[in-house]
Amino acid sequence: MSKTIIVSNRLPVKIDATEQGIQFKPSEGGLATGLSSVYKNGNNVWVGWPGTEVADEQVKQVTSQLKELRLSPVFLTKDDINLYYEGFSNEILWPIFHYMSTYARYDDAYWNSYQQVNEKFKQAVLQVAEPGDTIWIHDYQLLLLPGLIRAALPDITIGFFQHIPFPSYELFRLIPWRSELLNGILGADLVGFHTYDDARHFLSSATRILQLKSSSNVISTHSRSVVVESFPMGIDSDKFEEIVHEQAVRDNITHLEESFGNTRLILSIDRLDYSKGILQRLQAFDIFLQNHQEYKEKVSLYMIVVPSRDTVGQYKELRDDIDKLVGNINARFRTNVWTPVNYFYRSFPLEMLSALYCFSDICLVTPMRDGMNLVCKEYVASRTNNDGVLILSEMAGASKELIDALIVNPNNVRQMSDAIVEALNMSADEQVKRMTQMRLLISKYNVHHWVKIFMERLEETKRMQQSLQ
Ligand code: UDP
Ligand code: G6P
Repeated sequence: MSKTIIVSNRLPVKIDATEQGIQFKPSEGGLATGLSSVYKNGNNVWVGWPGTEVADEQVKQVTSQLKELRLSPVFLTKDDINLYYEGFSNEILWPIFHYMSTYARYDDAYWNSYQQVNEKFKQAVLQVAEPGDTIWIHDYQLLLLPGLIRAALPDITIGFFQHIPFPSYELFRLIPWRSELLNGILGADLVGFHTYDDARHFLSSATRILQLKSSSNVISTHSRSVVVESFPMGIDSDKFEEIVHEQAVRDNITHLEESFGNTRLILSIDRLDYSKGILQRLQAFDIFLQNHQEYKEKVSLYMIVVPSRDTVGQYKELRDDIDKLVGNINARFRTNVWTPVNYFYRSFPLEMLSALYCFSDICLVTPMRDGMNLVCKEYVASRTNNDGVLILSEMAGASKELIDALIVNPNNVRQMSDAIVEALNMSADEQVKRMTQMRLLISKYNVHHWVKIFMERLEETKRMQQSLQ
């Protein structure tokens, strides 16, 4: 029976070495959380990095433990982590693709490592691939992989999906290795993005930089036709609706009620990342507190920042800046019975995230750029009473779907502060009207639907290519 091989830089679990031995913890980030609900179908396999350097003597044990979960590890050395992951992926591609071009450090050593590690992933895929399999490659860390696999297995079916934005041609062309990257992606049969704009930007870069012809959303390479389309990713909405009723979640909600009493909570959850607009969000909350003394002791921000890539310089600086700003706001506004910003720099289990989604009156999701953003969809799915207000940045892919949110420009801190006031005063009827619409959409276009339409389109693309031969 043929299978789907999912390939991404990070596996859905990461190694947690404790005194009791090697254990695995769920990975954070939209790609891992989103796909972990679906990869177990059939006899699928997931190829990727288990999130840390593994000593030679532990490789065998880790490999066999992961095999039981149908995960196939790619081990990265310290140099791979420094140069391919932190370097090329997160100091060149991530900033450029999120429109922060001044953060990019073009370094030949990063590029060499990126090529080597993509080659390593190719070897790992070839070890598990069999004729008739479908290979589904994910995200910006593996842009060369579709081309490398295509060269080794010319007839195999390859889908590629990018979870982060694809920038406009003017940004993308800054990258010294732009042609190589495009040629790598075009090894796929179907190339998917979250939004129509991302797909359009990719088509524009591919046709202008590589001088290829395109008709509508099909690019003609020298050997094949490649389809480029948008597939907005959904979440496992049933999971978020159902977990609300579990005892652990109910207990967490009771604890939140005891701690926060009559204080209304505004929820903010992100990985530590400059693309998430965390500082601007804090500035907006600061302005809100300055201008609306009437909410003193009545509203708090509950802010979770999940540690991420904190060995990369800009991330370290961001963490310090957040610490300072939170300290500054709390020092100026706190009282003996009230802390304006409840800030946590760590990850939380799903049962606590769910409790927070249920308990918070408002969810404030204001990235400067975000491919999709799943946190806002998780908040909506968790609102089983159909109340609550989502404030959402127009720069998140999700804003194209969740049009019943209060949509804001994350650069406009005054507008965000006004949106908080509007949300706090929104009538119950209006909340229910907006939330019901959003919940219908999240439930209909869930992650299972996303996988289904991507896979169907990939099969159709393959048939179209064969009919053209
Ligand atoms: N998340 C998590 N643990 C936490 C906080 C968040 O696993 O403590 C998850 C969250 O539920 C969501 C994902 O991390 O599924 C974040 O995805 P999103 O698309 O919002 O942003 P990304 O991190 O992928 O940029
Ligand atoms: C985003 C990216 C993913 C990545 C995740 C977490 O969601 O699209 O590819 O896995 O962030 O980042 P990390 O660097 O920890 O894998």
